[in-house]
Amino acid sequence: MANKKIGMWMYNNGGGGAIERKIIDQLKEREIEVETNLNLRFAKGSKDGIICNNVNMLELDLFFSYNAGEQTNTQKYMYETINKYVTTVNSYQSFALSEDKFRSNIALNKAGIKTTDFFLCHRESPEYLVEKFKEWKKLIFKQIDGWGGNGMILLESCQSLDSLLPFLNQTGIRHIYLEKFIDNDFSDYRIDIVDGEYISCYGRKASPRDWRTNISSGGSIILREANDEIIDIAKRATKILGLDIAGVDIVYDREKEQYVVLEVNGIPAFATPEQEKIGLTFNDKKIKKIVNLIDFKIK
Ligand SMILES: Nc1ncnc2c1ncn2[C@@H]1O[C@H](COP(=O)(O)OP(=O)(O)O)[C@@H](O)[C@H]1O
Ligand SMILES: [Mg+2]
Repeated sequence: MANKKIGMWMYNNGGGGAIERKIIDQLKEREIEVETNLNLRFAKGSKDGIICNNVNMLELDLFFSYNAGEQTNTQKYMYETINKYVTTVNSYQSFALSEDKFRSNIALNKAGIKTTDFFLCHRESPEYLVEKFKEWKKLIFKQIDGWGGNGMILLESCQSLDSLLPFLNQTGIRHIYLEKFIDNDFSDYRIDIVDGEYISCYGRKASPRDWRTNISSGGSIILREANDEIIDIAKRATKILGLDIAGVDIVYDREKEQYVVLEVNGIPAFATPEQEKIGLTFNDKKIKKIVNLIDFKIK
């Protein structure tokens, strides 16, 4: 029987290249070949297949897509197409769901998992926004598919609407997506889950100048332990979204005195070499679980 062959597209910054090599080596030990650098930006599709970097994507046994920073609409389109014929990790459906804050929150709430209060309406119904202000007092405008803390606006008074609406009219954004601001201590928990199993927990703390914990918003890594409740929430959230690999962000709501899921990331980063030095030591465990997962899926 011919060797199994998988394709991989992995981020290269922040130590990603070294992680990729480890994954490839461990897959090789199991006689699984790996094609790399499958950036679907350069894919060509025809009746012969979808050819990327001289590899026919439709003949792979599995495609492992792990590059958060460079996903464009055309790449997602190819990812979705490939997913119809080839096992993908994460599956395209789950990846797309995790990228959508509104749909993720609906799915989580339907399953009884606590999230922030959220609200979506067309930008031409600003009267709804005024109602939400009265109810929530402090809220956040977000892009449904935003990342890295970008494009969010903290709205603390009804007057701030006066600048939001003209701003939206200049952009192509038709939906207004709002979340109630959670009363929290500006720190969060990041729980990594692979194949339904708990991998690791660490946290991030916002800089004194920002309310967002994202590293790209000035936040910093903190070492912190999870408790059983947090791990259980993270596992359930991952399962509901159907993700094989997830990074679940959880904050503690001081007003309601409960943990809430802020978002579930489908491409959670490995620890960078700098982060490993300060104590995030989960990379090898995560690599091993991912290799097991891939091996299991192609058998
Ligand atoms: N509803 C909220 N209440 C309070 N803080 C929030 C809320 N939503 C997001 N934040 C803060 O903003 C950060 C980024 O929000 P998030 O929804 O995770 O978007 P992104 O995908 O850009 O990371 C969070 O890590 C958290 O610190
Ligand atoms: Mg986030």
